[in-house]
Amino acid sequence: MAKITSVRGFRDILPDETPKWQRVEEKVREIFFNFGIQEIRIPILEKTELFKRGIGEATDIVEKEMYTFLDRGNEYLTMRPEATASVIRAYIEHNLYEKDPVAKLFTIGPMFRRERPQKGRFRQFHQINVEFLGQEDPRIDAELMSMLMYLLGELGLKELKLEINSLGCDICRPAFREKVTGFLKDREGKLCEDCRRRLGTNPLRIFDCKNESCQETISGAPVILDFICGECKEHFEKVTEHLEILSVPSVINRRMVRGLDYYTRTAFEITTQALGAQNAVTGGGRYDGLVQMLGGPAVSGIGFAIGFDRLISMLSDADEESDVRPNIFIAALGDEAQGRAFFICNTLRRAGIRAEMDFAGRSLKSQMKRANKLSCSHTLIIGDKEIDDGTAQLRNMQDGTQEPVNIQDAGALIQIVTG
Ligand code: HAM
Repeated sequence: MAKITSVRGFRDILPDETPKWQRVEEKVREIFFNFGIQEIRIPILEKTELFKRGIGEATDIVEKEMYTFLDRGNEYLTMRPEATASVIRAYIEHNLYEKDPVAKLFTIGPMFRRERPQKGRFRQFHQINVEFLGQEDPRIDAELMSMLMYLLGELGLKELKLEINSLGCDICRPAFREKVTGFLKDREGKLCEDCRRRLGTNPLRIFDCKNESCQETISGAPVILDFICGECKEHFEKVTEHLEILSVPSVINRRMVRGLDYYTRTAFEITTQALGAQNAVTGGGRYDGLVQMLGGPAVSGIGFAIGFDRLISMLSDADEESDVRPNIFIAALGDEAQGRAFFICNTLRRAGIRAEMDFAGRSLKSQMKRANKLSCSHTLIIGDKEIDDGTAQLRNMQDGTQEPVNIQDAGALIQIVTG
């Protein structure tokens, strides 16, 4: 029969890759815990309206990339393309702000965007997402980025570049948008079809277009840092000043706009040459209007998402073999011995010993071969004969020595194997 393969852009993470993912998750949780960031788990499916309103109707994500379908209940649902909108939805829905408007939340999991798959770009990818809510102070922006750089450093990433920009606010951005629109209208002929359409819907998205002619055109366009209001300017200056205080190197990228509409003021990305074309390993920024826009109180926020798949691809392969070798293999010869082995095997596991056995009733030779292949430190050899006198042979697989052990006494066996 024909094989059924996975969906394009969706992939399996196989057992020899998962130890890396587990190690990162463990480290991330430990660091988040130290920084007082709590875990929130949110659904994969949300009402489509959440992302339309949250991310913005005229963004690539919402216009072209969402997995949206009409549910049997006649409601449009979407597989989350990012986590921020969902985290805020949960924060509002459960009135978390009433308990304490300051919330520091993280969530780790799969996201879905129907982009063109290529190296480092998938349709199902994973993010490590952090949101700090309820704090507007620019020192928070610096603190968040500083923690992020520390975290990536602890995970073993090198040569990271933190790029920052300010995207202004609702007060100063309209004037900038108008300026950019005017500039680009005069050069409309040089823009790709998509960007000509964006000129009417969301001109700032043109900064992100990969088309060479659009890139060249936009390179002469006005930049937002020249238009931000006094308060945004002061905020931005304080952010860079406090990054310096915390010794976090950063560069200002005056053309960075980010691909989601909710950002205000600080926006940032972490890139690395190691990733090639898809060079962003993290993106984030401040979103002071988003909570209100999604029906909540006027609470400010800032956060980031690390591309987990990209992060993993940057880690070296050294030290990644997780030790899943069984401590003991139980080679049983004969039906009665198999029955006893089954019981001992499961008793040992409950006592925290990694035990394995063979159910196929193979010869001693082939069972020993399997024990060797699994690299167990010990093999317990039980034959029907041994059961009668309650002993079995325990073989040390390293030095080949063998000793009789009492199989009625699980405690003694555990001691030998772990000792
Ligand atoms: P984003 O820049 O769209 O931001 O995504 C963050 C990171 O996710 C990217 O830097 C990249 O590493 C990874 N990523 C995005 N798309 C893909 C893909 N198709 N395949 C593999 N990796 C991908 C956000 O999602 C915002 N929600 C971040 C945020 C949180 N802002 C504030 N809070």
